[in-house]
Amino acid sequence: MKIAILGATGFVGRAVLQQAMDEGYEVNILVRNPAKLTTTSDKVNIIQGSLEDAEKVAETLLGCCAVVNAAGGVKGSDQYEAFLNITKVLVGAMKLTGVKKLVSINGSGTILPNEYVGVKRRFLSTIVGILLKHMKDAKKAELQILLNEKDIDWVSVRANLILKKTATGQVIADDQKMPGGKITLPDLAKFMLDQVQSDEWVHKAPFVATA
Ligand SMILES: NC(=O)c1ccc[n+]([C@@H]2O[C@H](COP(=O)([O-])OP(=O)(O)OC[C@H]3O[C@@H](n4cnc5c(N)ncnc54)[C@H](OP(=O)(O)O)[C@@H]3O)[C@@H](O)[C@H]2O)c1
Repeated sequence: MKIAILGATGFVGRAVLQQAMDEGYEVNILVRNPAKLTTTSDKVNIIQGSLEDAEKVAETLLGCCAVVNAAGGVKGSDQYEAFLNITKVLVGAMKLTGVKKLVSINGSGTILPNEYVGVKRRFLSTIVGILLKHMKDAKKAELQILLNEKDIDWVSVRANLILKKTATGQVIADDQKMPGGKITLPDLAKFMLDQVQSDEWVHKAPFVATA
């Protein structure tokens, strides 16, 4: 089974790629700089380019059953505008290539329209917006587009603190309230990969935490 992974040179993306390799997936990745990859194998097909390049994105998705999107906003320029464009390009490429499933990383600072948000989460979201504006802006833009995309089976996985620790195999997911503040990197990567073949969280943005 072949999947596409975006953002494979990032903190989350590297773990997602490792998990996909461990699970025996064939993988297409689209990266700007292959030298940043920490791991690869003959089952990984590297395409070099930007997420803004519609042709490269479509090439990356070709023949895949799902996209796992670990890309996030980077510092430097307006990531809200950048990810509005990147998400439009991605959705367009999914429709063109017939790839229906999208599993995307998101953050705990992202608030859905009409979502109940208590004082603690509102405070957290404000802090994330100050300290990690590039990340929050990118994922706000992405979700804004996905929420209107009913033809795509998207899942937006919201994580808070991601720990570089070993897997516990104990993940709690909840789309109403944060079940905890932390998740280990391999637990997060496995949860994201599990969504490739599960429809449990389609059109939802579950929070995930290590139990
Ligand atoms: N890190 C955390 O602790 C944490 C916690 C909770 C949630 N999250 C969520 O996870 C997301 C990813 O976090 P991260 O720490 O993995 O970020 P990261 O290390 O900065 O990785 C971002 C990835 O996105 C890629 N990317 C961004 N714009 C691109 C473009 N135009 N074309 C091609 N690739 C592009 C980057 O490629 P390059 O390598 O080429 O720049 C990189 O691979 C965040 O945005 C946030 O929503 C992260």
